[in-house]
Amino acid sequence: MAGFSCVTYRGICHGMGSDYAPTELTSARSIVMNGVTKSYRFMRIDPESEGVTCIQLFGNTVEDFTEAMKIICEDELLSRVDIFDINMGCPVAKVVKTGAGSGLIRTPELAGKIVEESRKTAEALDKILTVKTRIGFDDNDNNGPLFAKMLASCGAQAICVHGRTAKQMYAGKADWNAIAKMREAVANEGVYFFANGDVTDGKSAREILDVTGADGIMIGRASCGNPWIFQEVKDYLFEGKNSHEKNTLEKPTFKEKCDMLLTELDGRIKEVGEHTAVTEMRSVMPQYIKGFPGAAKMKVDLCRASTMTEVRQILDSCLREGTNGN
Ligand SMILES: Cc1cc2nc3c(=O)[nH]c(=O)nc-3n(C[C@H](O)[C@H](O)[C@H](O)COP(=O)(O)O)c2cc1C
Repeated sequence: MAGFSCVTYRGICHGMGSDYAPTELTSARSIVMNGVTKSYRFMRIDPESEGVTCIQLFGNTVEDFTEAMKIICEDELLSRVDIFDINMGCPVAKVVKTGAGSGLIRTPELAGKIVEESRKTAEALDKILTVKTRIGFDDNDNNGPLFAKMLASCGAQAICVHGRTAKQMYAGKADWNAIAKMREAVANEGVYFFANGDVTDGKSAREILDVTGADGIMIGRASCGNPWIFQEVKDYLFEGKNSHEKNTLEKPTFKEKCDMLLTELDGRIKEVGEHTAVTEMRSVMPQYIKGFPGAAKMKVDLCRASTMTEVRQILDSCLREGTNGN
């Protein structure tokens, strides 16, 4: 996820139960034009802390994807990536108007060619090729099942479907029934299928799996500032623990959340330096403290911070005041 999926946070999530997480989307065109240097920080992987690694690319031509994959694999570290994921879901206007991201849902023939050729390139590079998409472009688009089938028959080895149309962006409820139809369409294609959209806890994870028949789940927003969610979901699915009803799983305390925020910030500082890390964490920090008493005031303070010391002071003073020391 753009702004959230940095190498530090993916490592934290993997350590806390996530099987893998893609990098944020990176422009294939930019890699072809400029090499990997400009986008390196978005693509940096750490197989040791992340386990399975996945670089997500967006673009609008076959050549940009295949060339970008080859260029990435010329880099010593990046060549260790396990999966290339093609973004066919980004709804942002400046991406869609170039025909990339969810724009590719409207050009299925091109999308198919991109998958077909990218799969060949991925195979030659000994990589897995996956696709992330949505249930359609807008409400009038009923081609989701056909699109999924096409992706599978063109060689996608896994497909992840977000249960909203591109027009919806992130509004409204994810339509799990629409995901189910796409899952059904590829039932005999031998493709691994992930469902995505509105999974926020163990219960919703169970429900999305039951409704869609998916093989796996991707968790987006509910994982921001909340790496605990992965174990929570796994405990619910595999151990029968239900954190909400039976209260067998403790929710992280404010102190634990603050400690995790500082761990992420510390890792990001090592990645990109203090100024950039703190500035970029301004949209991430509120996610950690969401729901705790005093979060609104704290958010304002954190969004003004520009050093690790300032962040630490804000969190320390909240802990000292005791309003959040539960
Ligand atoms: C801030 C933000 C950034 C995102 N960036 C990406 C991205 O780079 N690549 C991608 O495939 N999806 C991206 N997404 C979409 C999420 O991966 C996910 O599909 C969507 O949020 C629905 O899942 P959720 O309800 O679990 O959040 C992003 C979503 C948000 C809110």
